Amino acid sequence: MQFQRLYEEKRMSAAEVAALIPDASQIYSDIFLAQPKTLYEAINNRCLADSMRSCKITTFLDLYPLVCYTEPIRFAKNLQGTSVFCSGLTRKSVGQGIADYCPNTYWDQPALIREYWDIDVFVVSASPMDSHGYFSLGVTGSCSAEYLKKAKMILIEVNQQMPYCAEAPKVHISEVRAFCEADYALPVLPEPKLDMISTTIGNLIAERIPDGACLQLGIGSIPDAVGMALKSKKHLGIHTEMLTDSMVQLIECGAADNSCKSIHQGKTVATFAYGSKRMYDYIDHNPSVAMLPVDYVNNPYTISRNERVVSVNAALEIDLSGQVCAESIGNHMFSGSGGQLDYVRGALMSPGGMSFIAFPSTAKGNTISKIKPFLTPGAGVTTGRNEVDMVVTEYGVAKLRGRSFAQRAKDLISIAHPDFRDELMFEAQKMGLMI
Ligand code: COA
Repeated sequence: MQFQRLYEEKRMSAAEVAALIPDASQIYSDIFLAQPKTLYEAINNRCLADSMRSCKITTFLDLYPLVCYTEPIRFAKNLQGTSVFCSGLTRKSVGQGIADYCPNTYWDQPALIREYWDIDVFVVSASPMDSHGYFSLGVTGSCSAEYLKKAKMILIEVNQQMPYCAEAPKVHISEVRAFCEADYALPVLPEPKLDMISTTIGNLIAERIPDGACLQLGIGSIPDAVGMALKSKKHLGIHTEMLTDSMVQLIECGAADNSCKSIHQGKTVATFAYGSKRMYDYIDHNPSVAMLPVDYVNNPYTISRNERVVSVNAALEIDLSGQVCAESIGNHMFSGSGGQLDYVRGALMSPGGMSFIAFPSTAKGNTISKIKPFLTPGAGVTTGRNEVDMVVTEYGVAKLRGRSFAQRAKDLISIAHPDFRDELMFEAQKMGLMI
């Protein structure tokens, strides 16, 4: 078979694959499990050996360390990093201004690739080649299809343990410059701890979700608590950015069957997955799961084509007018915008749709109120006050959409932690909000 011949020709060690990256390359990788661990290690080794010069890499929710983030000053002449969504591995160097951050909303990233970014090299992890010479990009739709079209050089790591998703971007062996083989278990997301607060918030949201709703649940313990509280519902649908374990549990217990969806009826649609081994096994060769490109999945218009869309996302802080920050603590980038706004907008346009921004009322052991008169200086607005819908803490639900400044301030103060309500009221009065 011709594919087998190509396979033998293009198979190399990770070090040999990484050695193909020319100096001064702009390298890109995609979200979470799309990142090729062994190629990252080989890139790090080239930096250590000083054999890679003046390269730049743009990354998204990093799972594996790259020297441009862990030791950015030492390796500045070799590799510089830019994040499009910070993780624990990139936050510090971005915060220190040594690595960079590129603001974006997730559904627009493929357009940025098409129109603005020069992609010399795309590095990605994939599942083993099929009998037609295609590698599936496993559990990731995201931006990969666009990277595959635009990149001058495609380098892949073929991981024996990457699940095969029937509907995910594929790349043919003939398009790949080189690849290495790997065999490692995919990292799993630590199981979220559902404490009293997240369970209370989860229940407050779940009781407002009707049978037949189409769900997007974000990352973290609160969206997971919502998922857990929905097990007695019927005919839920899933059209989401990230496929989570709680959604797989909803499918397995019969609460979600995707039967009421207007588009992709009977199918679970996401743009990437990250969770447990059990979830990866669920996705493997499952014809009812589709990992589709983010400019389709997270496009607010696509989202709105399903009825009763319910979106649940978290936040770091909110001001009394309803401006939501979910990405930075002051001017220090903590995460990114991701698809929060995409789903707030999609839910807004969906017939019967609603979006929830949910968070515990305080942070840092009750010392900080997450509801504030003003956002902390430097904070980025992730969801604007014109589009925010419902805000939830363990003290209740504030419906902001369609409400005035004064009504919003009053309702938000009523769901703030009791220790901060007087102070918030005082500030609201000073701001002329207590009409
Ligand atoms: N001021 C200071 N610190 C704060 C804070 C505030 N207002 N709010 C939270 N923190 C701290 C917490 O104490 C915690 O610190 P620790 O790690 O030292 O305990 C840390 O920040 C994280 O807070 P937490 O509430 O645990 O965050 P989370 O893991 O639930 O994530 C977001 C919340 C907002 C960061 C996350 O949901 C996100 O990145 N959202 C943006 C993207 C998005 O919504 N995408 C949607 C589709 S997946």
